Amino acid sequence: MFCSVRNELFLLFPVIVILCSLSVPSRGKDTLTLGESLRDGDTLISKGDIFELGFFTPGESNRRYIGVWYRSFSTKLETILWVANREKPVTNLSGGALTLARDGNLIVTNTGSDVLWSTNISTPISNNQSRIVQLLADGNIVLNNSDGTTVWQSFDYPTDTYIPGMRVGLDLQTGVNQVFTSWRSKTDPAQGNFTLGIDPGRSTQLFVWDGEHPRWRSGRWNGQIFIGIEKMVPTYMYNFKLSNYDLEKKMYYYTGFNVSHRYMISWDGTDQHLIWSETSRSWTRFFAEPTTPCELYNRCGNYATCTEIDGKVGLEPLCMCLKGHVPAKETEWNNGNWTSGCVRRVLYKCEKEGMK
Ligand SMILES: *[C@@H]1O[C@H](CO)[C@@H](O)[C@H](O)[C@H]1NC(C)=O
Ligand SMILES: *[C@@H]1O[C@H](CO)[C@@H](O)[C@H](O)[C@H]1NC(C)=O
Ligand SMILES: *[C@@H]1O[C@H](CO)[C@@H](O)[C@H](O)[C@H]1NC(C)=O
Ligand SMILES: *[C@@H]1O[C@H](CO)[C@@H](O)[C@H](O)[C@H]1NC(C)=O
Ligand SMILES: *[C@@H]1O[C@H](CO)[C@@H](O)[C@H](O)[C@H]1NC(C)=O
Ligand SMILES: *[C@@H]1O[C@H](CO)[C@@H](O)[C@H](O)[C@H]1NC(C)=O
Ligand SMILES: *[C@@H]1O[C@H](CO)[C@@H](O)[C@H](O)[C@H]1NC(C)=O
Repeated sequence: MFCSVRNELFLLFPVIVILCSLSVPSRGKDTLTLGESLRDGDTLISKGDIFELGFFTPGESNRRYIGVWYRSFSTKLETILWVANREKPVTNLSGGALTLARDGNLIVTNTGSDVLWSTNISTPISNNQSRIVQLLADGNIVLNNSDGTTVWQSFDYPTDTYIPGMRVGLDLQTGVNQVFTSWRSKTDPAQGNFTLGIDPGRSTQLFVWDGEHPRWRSGRWNGQIFIGIEKMVPTYMYNFKLSNYDLEKKMYYYTGFNVSHRYMISWDGTDQHLIWSETSRSWTRFFAEPTTPCELYNRCGNYATCTEIDGKVGLEPLCMCLKGHVPAKETEWNNGNWTSGCVRRVLYKCEKEGMK
C-alpha cells in the first residue's frame, strides 16, 4: 500500500520512489520460472554478483544476442563468456525475449513467437513437477526440475570460453567431443573456423583445428602442464587436472573455481589464457598459442625442419628437408608452399653401389 502512488501524492513522488527503492533489496534475481520471460534490458544476476545474463550487442551492429558476461569485471564487450543464439541474432532491437516456455524449454524469440534458439530438450515435465532456470554463482545456466534434477546446463554447450568449473571434453563411449568454437570475427559470435578440444585419438593433448585440419597441438600432458606450451613452466600454478577417464569414461581437463582466470579459442585461431588483474583492472593475456610461424601444426610437412627467421613482416618460417630427403613437390616447395613436405631421396643405382 505504502508504495502505490496516487495522483494527489504526486508532490511526494520522488520521496516515495526513494523510500520504495530502499525498502527493496537491490540484488537482481537469478531465476526464471515456468512461463516467465526476460525482456531485452532485463538481466539475471548470479549470487555473488560475478555473472550476468541478458541481451548484448557485439560491436556496432543492430544484432542482439543472449549471453553471459562478467558483471564485476571490465566491460561487457570484452568478456562475453557464453552465447545462446549465436547463429540467429534478434534483429528487432527491443523485441527479443528469453523465455522458459511452458513445454519446459528455454527459448530465445524475436518479436512474437519466432523462435531463434531453443534448448531442444525432449524430456517432458511430469504432472507433479515444474521447471526453473537459474544462473548459478559459477556462471553455469541450469534448467532444473522442481525435484532439483538438472535436465540441461550451458556448461555442456560451450561457446568459445572455458571458465573454471566446466567439465567438457571427450565422451569415450559415444565419441562425442565437446569442443570450444571461435567467434567468426571480433564482433560476430556465429561459429568461426577454429575449434579447440581434446584429441579424439585420446592422446593427452589439446588441439586447435582450422575446420577439419589440425592447426596446433599443446604437446602432451605430463600430469601438471602441457609440455608444448612454453609459458606453462613447471611452476605454473593453475592447478589443471585431468579427469579419471578410465572411471568416468570422459576425458577432460578442469580446474577449481577461480574467477580470475579464463581460457578461450579466439576468433583468430589462438588458444589464450587470460588473467584478471585487480591492480590494472583489466584482463591480461598470459599466453596465446600458436603465436610464431613454426608453432603451426606440421608447418613444413613431413621430414622437414622449421626455422624462424626475421622477415619483412616479423618472424617468417623457413623450411628445410631433413638430410637424405627432397621436396615432394619441387615447384610448389620452391614457391614457398611447403605443405606437401619432403620424401626420402631415391638413390641412384651407382650411389647405392658406392655406399656399400
Ligand atoms: C519490435 O518489437 C516491438 C516490441 O515487442 C514491437 O512492438 C514491434 O512491432 C516490433 N517490430 C517489428 C518490426 O517486428
Ligand atoms: C534445436 O532444434 C532445431 C530444429 O531441429 C535446430 O535447428 C537447432 O539448431 C537446435 N538448437 C540447438 C541449440 O541445438
Ligand atoms: C511425481 O510422480 C512420480 C510418478 O508419477 C513419482 O514417482 C514421484 O515421487 C512424484 N514426485 C513428487 C514430488 O510428488
Ligand atoms: C539446480 O541444480 C543445481 C545442480 O545441478 C543446483 O546447484 C541448484 O541449486 C539447483 N537450483 C534450483 C533452483 O533448483
Ligand atoms: C575462415 O575461413 C574462410 C574460408 O576459408 C576464410 O575466408 C576466412 O578468412 C577465415 N576466417 C578467419 C578468421 O581466418
Ligand atoms: C585465483 O587466481 C589469482 C590470479 O592468478 C590468484 O592470485 C589467486 O591466488 C587465485 N585464487 C585461488 C583461491 O587460488
Ligand atoms: C599448396 O600445396 C598443396 C598440396 O600440394 C595444395 O593443395 C595447395 O593448393 C597449395 N597451396 C597454394 C596456396 O598454392
